[in-house]
Amino acid sequence: MAILEVRNLKKSFEDTEVIHDISFTMDEGETVTIIGSSGSGKTTLLRCLNFLETPDSGVIKVKDDILFDSDVPESMSEEAIRRKRLHFGLVFQSFNLFPQYTALENITLAPSLLAKEDTSIDASSIEENAKELLEKMGLSDRMGNYPHELSGGQQQRVAIARALALHPDILCFDEPTSALDPELTGEVLRVIKELAKQHTTMIIVTHEMSFAHDVSDKIIFMDKGVIAEEGTPEEVIDNPGNERTIQFLANYKNGK
Ligand SMILES: Nc1ncnc2c1ncn2[C@@H]1O[C@H](COP(=O)(O)OP(=O)(O)O)[C@@H](O)[C@H]1O
Ligand SMILES: [Mg+2]
Repeated sequence: MAILEVRNLKKSFEDTEVIHDISFTMDEGETVTIIGSSGSGKTTLLRCLNFLETPDSGVIKVKDDILFDSDVPESMSEEAIRRKRLHFGLVFQSFNLFPQYTALENITLAPSLLAKEDTSIDASSIEENAKELLEKMGLSDRMGNYPHELSGGQQQRVAIARALALHPDILCFDEPTSALDPELTGEVLRVIKELAKQHTTMIIVTHEMSFAHDVSDKIIFMDKGVIAEEGTPEEVIDNPGNERTIQFLANYKNGK
């Protein structure tokens, strides 16, 4: 059964339709990578999934939970939206850590707030979980450091641990290494690769083509708000069938 189903999703800003009728599904444990030129709608798609934008129409379903269905308008409470948002974790290009909190506190903050609302959550395990996640990210010795004391790569690894701490069904990355120099890019990509090996369900927007090839079960090529091509890395990257994919990959290889 698909863990995520997106059907006929549309989103406009003023008069411009940025997402034109997008449909796709993914299975639990899969890594799906979205590639495409700047402005093709990749970030808007991720923001729609994460309730940071409201789609104009379509359906978003995670497992049996309908997150959005334009045919069934309902006014959701803040609380309901927050609960639905928990299906997804989001890691941004710019890390977005809380500067006034240590690495450890950045990770424990949201689970602690959640435990106050939901008494079924075991608050005593939050810190231990956070420490385990930092260890998994190779940051055991950085728990007490503030973001400004960490490199960009370390900050991004804290951001990944923070997203994982809420046990999302699907972890989304929006160009997680675009703000990093090549050396630090490698350490972040290694961590994401490890998550893929452990069958963490992930949607990754990236321009790192050889990483995408290695790590993905499925590649989605977006062009001007539509899915122009999708398939395995062998299909989409090695043997693209769509003229626009061929053009995009050729530009990419030429370093444009
Ligand atoms: N909040 C917004 N208001 C108006 N236009 C937007 C907004 N967000 C994105 N856009 C436009 O939508 C298009 C797609 O943007 P985006 O989803 O960021 O693409 P990508 O992530 O693929 O570069 C762009 O033309 C962008 O200018
Ligand atoms: Mg973007």
